[in-house]
Amino acid sequence: MKKTFLTAFITASAVLSLTAQNPAIDKRVDDLLKQMTLEEKVGQLNQYTGEWSSATGPITKDGDKQNQIRTGQIGSMLNVKGVAHTRQCQEMAMQSRLKIPLLFGQDVIHGYKTTFPIPLAEAASWDLDAIELGARIAAVEAAASGIHWTFAPMVDIGRDPRWGRVMEGAGEDPYLGSLIAKARVKGFQGEKLGDITSVMACAKHFAAYGAAVGGRDYNSVDMSERMLWEVYLPPFKAALDAGAATFMNSFNDLNGIPATGSVFLQRDILKGLWGFKGFVVSDWGSIGEMKQHGFVKDGKDAALAAIVAGSDMDMESRCYKNNLADLVKEKKVDIALVDDAVRRILYKKFEMGLFEDPYKYSDVKRQEAAMNNPEHTKAAREIGAKSIVLLKNENNVLPLSKETKTIAFIGPLVKEYRQNLGFWSVELDEVDYDKFIVSQWDGLQNKVGKTSKLLYAKGCEIEGEDKSGFAEAVSIANQADVVILSIGERRDMSGEAKSRSDISLPGVQEELVKAIQATGKPVVVLINAGRPLVFNWTADNVPAILYTWWLGSEAGNSIADVLFGDVNPSAKLPVTFPRSVGQIPIYHSYFNTGRPAKNENDLNYVSAYIDLPNSPKFPFGYGLSYTTFGYSDLKLSKKQISKGETIEVTARITNTGKYAGEEVVQLYLRDKVGSVVRPVKELKGFEKIKLNAGESKVVTFVIDNEKLSFYNQKLEFDSEAGEFDLMIGSSAEDIRLKSEFELL
Ligand code: GLC
Repeated sequence: MKKTFLTAFITASAVLSLTAQNPAIDKRVDDLLKQMTLEEKVGQLNQYTGEWSSATGPITKDGDKQNQIRTGQIGSMLNVKGVAHTRQCQEMAMQSRLKIPLLFGQDVIHGYKTTFPIPLAEAASWDLDAIELGARIAAVEAAASGIHWTFAPMVDIGRDPRWGRVMEGAGEDPYLGSLIAKARVKGFQGEKLGDITSVMACAKHFAAYGAAVGGRDYNSVDMSERMLWEVYLPPFKAALDAGAATFMNSFNDLNGIPATGSVFLQRDILKGLWGFKGFVVSDWGSIGEMKQHGFVKDGKDAALAAIVAGSDMDMESRCYKNNLADLVKEKKVDIALVDDAVRRILYKKFEMGLFEDPYKYSDVKRQEAAMNNPEHTKAAREIGAKSIVLLKNENNVLPLSKETKTIAFIGPLVKEYRQNLGFWSVELDEVDYDKFIVSQWDGLQNKVGKTSKLLYAKGCEIEGEDKSGFAEAVSIANQADVVILSIGERRDMSGEAKSRSDISLPGVQEELVKAIQATGKPVVVLINAGRPLVFNWTADNVPAILYTWWLGSEAGNSIADVLFGDVNPSAKLPVTFPRSVGQIPIYHSYFNTGRPAKNENDLNYVSAYIDLPNSPKFPFGYGLSYTTFGYSDLKLSKKQISKGETIEVTARITNTGKYAGEEVVQLYLRDKVGSVVRPVKELKGFEKIKLNAGESKVVTFVIDNEKLSFYNQKLEFDSEAGEFDLMIGSSAEDIRLKSEFELL
């Protein structure tokens, strides 16, 4: 079915005609709205940060926040954690005239107390059930701590590892990213909003935030509408279709219009074409920042632009608080726009059951029970192991034997605790929280501390030129039968406002690797980071490499499980690893161009660098196993179909090694000729399957019109007749089976 793109137009009436969701709630909202003063309505559109924990943006001191809560001038707080604090704030809100409860929001991005791998690491698991479970557990713990709403999942496509927030998403691919967005929304929201363990999800950052020029956070985004529809919007639509209760807009301008003030994004697409019924919260201060963008002249104009564009709740800028009532009184803003925003927010408060019981999420006993559940740590340990990518394993150095006599564990991250949490961990100021975290050293001790002699040396710091620790590191390496090196970034070298112009291993860490490699001992390198790094010498010279990202509070156990083969690594890269920062942006679904290089040595007037191959260091979808897999028996049910028909594709996958393991079987398609050029390959399906040694299974994919469709020159989403290449492989570059078919 052709989805023609509606012409972008806005009238308040067209947008405000919210179709009834739950008529009973709609009625309660309308009845309450009728009682509210203009000031009370504006109050519902304000969100402030609490001061009981680290703010997540530049905070502005404000008058007496608590009095503003008591007088109904604040509708939501963020960074207020724990039953005690949330109950305290809610009690203040219950002193307001209409007793409208507060919503408590928090960045529960990859776990609350139990911290899961950073989202990019989880994405590497390609295990949608595990990803959903992680979000579910995060919701259980957050909800038990008084949180109603998480500012997650971040569903921004990330194709530039210079951008620090690539750690927070699901990588470069819209197909994988959309499935993960759905899994995370379902995990956070559970069966239905209002259940005691459900928290509202928030699809962010709408939109195209990950395409910042130069990979520099908050920078401008300039992209074709087609790229927007093809690549950057699908995960948001998937989140919406999964029932995401809220959206958060983004700091960037898109083609010159700040997202916060974009009618096109928030009204025409989100609330118009897609019919979104929830509410949009601005990102921290982004309404006021339209002044810095040069899109408005002052806070009053910012408030006008934002409410017209469909930004419902104002996080921290105070533009609504300071200006919106006046704008309505001056008839510059139609009260219908304010009412629409208030309705959307009140609807969620009713849906969450907060009017029946404003304190339903603030229960001390439930908080204690949720925080120390061994099932939660078990899940974190399991998905941690599933997220580790085996990049190299020459001479089968891995898995290590548990009978290894002496092991040297070297590097600046070996004995760290909080580093393993990565960015966006919920900084619990709980006493002894570090003891809740399993360091990499703890994990090794837990695994073989009783049977092997363990030696430790830091070797060097993460940053800096000091090599004075090398000698000790080399010395213990020489005493060992095998050396494990744990190196990488600091956890705060990726994340928000953490862009890097140089994504190589910081400091002298790679020189430490060289020094240890020179001992001739078998070396395993663990690389901890929130982004793809460049580490070409290590990649070319060290026999075994595990990419361990930031794996959360069970990191040490997850790593040890993989190092010693209790878990066979099965992760695949959700993002391309470049050879050099100079190749960025680099991703698997590129266009062929009119002058594609024939091979890595072809420099004869083709699209190539004279100083580097075009190919990545490690491609999208890449990851090894302790076993091997054979691909065979590719069959297509048809080689020609008419529009609307489907093709069933089957292939046999065999575990040809000696370990049981899991393989992510990937399906790529190429539309060979289109009314607009099409990528050389696009991920259109994957199956993660478990196989015992020697076992084989048949995987099945169904190709339907959706998988063949794209946005044509008129931005209509449709397929076109022609030939398609079909590829099935173990990564975007490791294609094992090929065929073709024709759409008539
Ligand atoms: C930050 C982030 C956003 C987060 C919000 C609240 O600036 O951009 O992702 O949810 O502020 O902490």
